[in-house]
Amino acid sequence: MRVAFTLNGRPVEVEGQGDERLLDLLRRHFRLTGTKEGCGEGECGACTVLMDGAAVLSCLTPLVQLDGRELFTVEGLEATTRGSQFLERFAAGGGTQCGACTPGIVLSAARYLSETPVVDRNGIRRALAGNICRCTGYEAIVKAIEAEGGRKDRVQLALHPSDPELTEERES
Ligand code: FES
Ligand code: FES
Repeated sequence: MRVAFTLNGRPVEVEGQGDERLLDLLRRHFRLTGTKEGCGEGECGACTVLMDGAAVLSCLTPLVQLDGRELFTVEGLEATTRGSQFLERFAAGGGTQCGACTPGIVLSAARYLSETPVVDRNGIRRALAGNICRCTGYEAIVKAIEAEGGRKDRVQLALHPSDPELTEERES
C-alpha cells in the first residue's frame, strides 16, 4: 500500500506492507536513526516520536496508520535552532548518559514544554511516564527540563510544515 504523510515538515510518500513498523520505516527507509529500538514491545519509550503532536511508540505504529499524519522525530527537533540548543543544554545538564532513551525523552519533553506555560516537576514526571531511562535515575533529566521551562527562549516544537523555522531549514 502507498501512504503519504509529513515527516519533519516535509511531505513524503512511501510504499510498503501495511503492518510495517514506523520504527523500521524511519531507520531503514528514511535513514533517520535517531529513533531507537529498546524493547520493541511498547514498554520502554525509546522509540517515541510525535504524530499529530502526540507522543506515539513507533515500534507499535504500523504503516497503515500513517496516511495524512504529521510525524516529527528527534532529527526534526535537532534541525531547528531552539531544538538543537535544547539538546545541547539537556546533555550539558547530565540528562544523557548512554543516550538510548534520549531521543524519546527529549521529544516527550519538548511536547510538554511547548504546551505548558508553567512547568513543574510533577508535570515533567507525568510527561515522561512512558519513557524509561536505565542510567540517570531521572533527576538530571527532570532538572534539565525544569531549567528549560524557566527560559524565555525555551524550546518550542515546530510541528507544522508551514512553521517558519522548518521553512527556513528547508531553504538553507
Ligand atoms: S522500542 Fe518501542 S517502546 Fe520500547
Ligand atoms: S541515558 Fe542510558 S537509558 Fe537513559
